[in-house]
Amino acid sequence: MLTSKRIMTMAVAFLSLSIGAQAGIKPGAVWPDNRGVHINAHGGGVLKSGDTYYWFGEHKADTTSSAMVGVTCYSSKDLENWTYRGVALSVSDQKGSDIERGCILERPKVIYNKKTGKYVMWFHLELKGQGYAAARYGVAVADKAEGPYTFLRSGRVNPKIWPENTPKPDAEVLTSALNGNPKLDWWTPEWMEYVKKGMYTWRDYDGGQMARDQTVYVDDDGKAYHIYSSEENLTLQIAELTDDYTAHTGRYVRVAEGGQNEAPAIMKRNGVYWMITSGCTGWAPNKARMFTATSIWGPWKQLPNPCVGPNADLTFGGQSTYILKIADRPDTYIFMADIWRPEHPSDARYIWLPIEFKADGTPVVEWKDEWSMDDLK
Ligand code: DGJ
Repeated sequence: MLTSKRIMTMAVAFLSLSIGAQAGIKPGAVWPDNRGVHINAHGGGVLKSGDTYYWFGEHKADTTSSAMVGVTCYSSKDLENWTYRGVALSVSDQKGSDIERGCILERPKVIYNKKTGKYVMWFHLELKGQGYAAARYGVAVADKAEGPYTFLRSGRVNPKIWPENTPKPDAEVLTSALNGNPKLDWWTPEWMEYVKKGMYTWRDYDGGQMARDQTVYVDDDGKAYHIYSSEENLTLQIAELTDDYTAHTGRYVRVAEGGQNEAPAIMKRNGVYWMITSGCTGWAPNKARMFTATSIWGPWKQLPNPCVGPNADLTFGGQSTYILKIADRPDTYIFMADIWRPEHPSDARYIWLPIEFKADGTPVVEWKDEWSMDDLK
């Protein structure tokens, strides 16, 4: 017999199904939000504020990878069920604005600054109509996690400052090479020698360093860092941010010179930094890379791909975007990646997988068809 209590339970179950309540996490599947709509927050990252997690990412349109909306925000208490909170940073309708609708706005990440009480968003920006030539960072601030964020500035990184971990350039030699003497063909060993010496760092010295795929990271001591693909995506750079997190201090290093790394995602565990990146193959997946260091300034040592399981050599079809440390669970880190769908960008999918650790501390990302935060308890 159907008691009224039973009818009520069935109604609640039906309602949660129909509004898309998520049972667990299914990497690669459609991930419905509270409205039952696939989450649209790509190349993103997660920030916890109070007891709430905020997921920020690129809004992707159905037919173009250009930014037609801006950065979206979703909130959750359990990391499985997400509520759409709207557009945190909107593109502009003002012609000539750095963030004019139709620009390229990728890989937004938000950090909270305890001193100023502001939420600070960093992202990769390409000016409208210029393809990927501008290679700028963008920065925006808000008083509340979900925004609205006010766009502050875009630009290249640390103009007229040389990186700390590369010997001062022989300006004449590098300028001459940039002018074709000697003539250096890409990917020849001789060209790579010049790349490592900082030929492109030098080329961009006056105007500032290129900044494409990126993340921002707040260390235990409250210092924050901007980690980005620079020098024609050949070399990563790590640049310190000012105390308010809205600008660079001028201190920066080059990492994996000539190694062609994109999609940096970083974590720290037991005093050791681990960074997962990808190679550079556009929207197509490739084999993840991993680096480790005991200081953010390096030296960074490269280790093998941390992924294990079917399609591990292609990062399970995805590309890293963020590593989320779950502060209130012991030793819990989640690897986040995107499965891009350039022919239908809004249908790009998410890979979230818990990170496990070998006895020596090395991270391992193992594929799971389905898992739940409860499994991690
Ligand atoms: C790979 C990058 O990681 C993405 O963020 C995006 O810039 C694509 N390349 C564009 O091809």
